[in-house]
Amino acid sequence: MQKILVTGGAGYIGTHTCVELQNAGYDIVVLDNFSNSKPDALENVKKITGKEIKLYEGNMIDRNILEKIFTENEISAVIDFAAYKAVGESVQKPVEYYTNNVSTVLVLLDEMKKHNVKTLVFSSSATVYGDPEFVPITEDSKVGGTTNPYGTSKLMVENILQDLYKSDNEWNIAILRYFNPIGAHESGLIGESPNGIPANLMPYIQKVAAGKLEQLSVFGDDYDTKDGTGVRDYIHVVDLAKGHVKALEKLNKDGKGMHIYNLGTGTGYSVLDMVKAFEKANNITIPYKIAPRRPGDIAQCYADPKKAKEELGFVATKTLEDMCKDAWNFEKNNK
Ligand code: UD1
Repeated sequence: MQKILVTGGAGYIGTHTCVELQNAGYDIVVLDNFSNSKPDALENVKKITGKEIKLYEGNMIDRNILEKIFTENEISAVIDFAAYKAVGESVQKPVEYYTNNVSTVLVLLDEMKKHNVKTLVFSSSATVYGDPEFVPITEDSKVGGTTNPYGTSKLMVENILQDLYKSDNEWNIAILRYFNPIGAHESGLIGESPNGIPANLMPYIQKVAAGKLEQLSVFGDDYDTKDGTGVRDYIHVVDLAKGHVKALEKLNKDGKGMHIYNLGTGTGYSVLDMVKAFEKANNITIPYKIAPRRPGDIAQCYADPKKAKEELGFVATKTLEDMCKDAWNFEKNNK
């Protein structure tokens, strides 16, 4: 059985990917420092799959813990999720963001090289496209023009990985650019629980539905979109997690290479579409008001998912209704 190191495995996308990896028969080792997650999340993964997870608690910047992991376990590949991801916070704390999102990866790559583990799936974001030249966005669209340290940190790591592959094409790397992951596992045991007031749309809607926040502010209704509100490609987190398993299969099959894939559905929904879909799926009213545009936001962003379909056999299958139901189910379970 192949053993996969999942860094940041206790987080939102990490936990869902652990479930899908275990379901697909992989053995997993998790490294997490619980900076934005709780050990309970991994206990819940075990409840879902009935399988054990070997956990190392620590920070990826710590070479000793990586050394210990690679010595004690025969790791065949790494999936790297360990990063900070709050856009607003990244503007306030650039040093912390670049340290945690870039410096740590350099330590990881160095340790991987040392232990001759050269297969990596890296968690990137559609944010690297900045304000996209066109939609749907293909993988060869121009990258850059990121507007915050979070986005820039993802782009920096992508560049580092490209340079690494150029220097040694024994490496086997998949960069996955996520669009907007939402929803939760259907069990309601794992999902997204941001600290404080959520910055992202779906977690905010969940809190309004739960009565913890009064109303949603819709940031702008004068964009050049069908109803004037921002359009995004929302993808169910379980589909996204399955995309990682597909990427790993591809790397295992090819043995070496450098690949970039968009993980999205290819369909864009507006903010008002999301409000209506949530209301309909869960029979709840979401009060909202129209508010000014949020600085740094773009009108629309959605994927061309063709490359992932053709090369990975990846197609997102869950519907917007599934996303809304599962998001609410998780929220109710975790009051
Ligand atoms: C944001 C990040 C992006 C990150 C992604 C996933 C920014 C500029 N970008 O993307 O880098 O990869 O989250 O974590 O923050 N909206 C409202 N009211 C709200 C919240 C959001 O109207 O209270 C709107 C936004 O204006 C946008 C849409 O909902 O049109 C989605 O917003 P959000 O969930 O924050 O995701 P992104 O901005 O696409």
